[in-house]
Amino acid sequence: MSGKGYGKVILFGEHFVVHNEPAIVSGLKNLVTVMEVEEGPWNAELDEQSKQGYAAVAKALGIEGKTFTLTTEEIVPMKQNLGSSAAFYVSFANALNKKYGLGKTKNDINKAAYQGEVFIHGKPSGIDTSASTFCKPLIFRKTLDGSFIIKKLKIGAPIHLLISNTGPKKGTGELVAQFGALKEKNAVSKDVFKLYKAIFNNAKKAIKEGDMERLGFLMDLDHGLLAAFNLSTKNIEKARIIMKEHGSLGSKITGAGGGGNIIGLFRSQDDAEKAKNELGNEGFMTLYARIE
Ligand code: MEV
Repeated sequence: MSGKGYGKVILFGEHFVVHNEPAIVSGLKNLVTVMEVEEGPWNAELDEQSKQGYAAVAKALGIEGKTFTLTTEEIVPMKQNLGSSAAFYVSFANALNKKYGLGKTKNDINKAAYQGEVFIHGKPSGIDTSASTFCKPLIFRKTLDGSFIIKKLKIGAPIHLLISNTGPKKGTGELVAQFGALKEKNAVSKDVFKLYKAIFNNAKKAIKEGDMERLGFLMDLDHGLLAAFNLSTKNIEKARIIMKEHGSLGSKITGAGGGGNIIGLFRSQDDAEKAKNELGNEGFMTLYARIE
């Protein structure tokens, strides 16, 4: 029996979401992990942490004392800020749900997959497994008691994005800790968080109204905040400049930052495809994606 889990892009709120601020995220249908699950020994290539993660997901679904052999037919690109570990756990949870006829809801799958993510990212917000499970544009917030509030986000006009790989990144857990440490150290963080909240509120409105010019400006603003927390790199800024020179309305880190993928917003698929060629000429592997 196979199960699916999707990759994601965070449009607004990475890192802030760990500290209970709302974020905007979407799963992407063209980034998917498809996993086949059989009872048998764990795959030799799995490290201890990942195995414990899978066992925790199974336990959360009520399955204990079994081991599984996993086969993937397709995977979300790994270590690129596209939510690959969430997609592994969500596809595993969906496969178990089918295999044993567990009758679990999407909310149950999300909660179970989150138990796996904990082994990989320390204290994840839950945004990645939520996007991976629901594969829709969402407003996501982690509450103070650790549960999730997830709302479907209305899209006024299609959002045309380029997703561009800027190279290797540090681990998400390390980047989350770096953001948290700088937040604690600087009293001005309180005001930075207020500014983020204003960006989020304006972005939600711009998405509902289909105002892409405003949305692009808000993406640049959000990126500026994340860059101040040392989450940007030379290659990220280079890709952003190439995007800007070739028609992007705005661009930013997506996910943990520190390398990996960034997103750029374009007026149309045509505009995005032109910029994609330019990025390719400069060595940046780039995908087009549409959120609608
Ligand atoms: C990772 O995709 C997003 C972060 O905000 C971490 C998290 O929310 O768990 C950096």
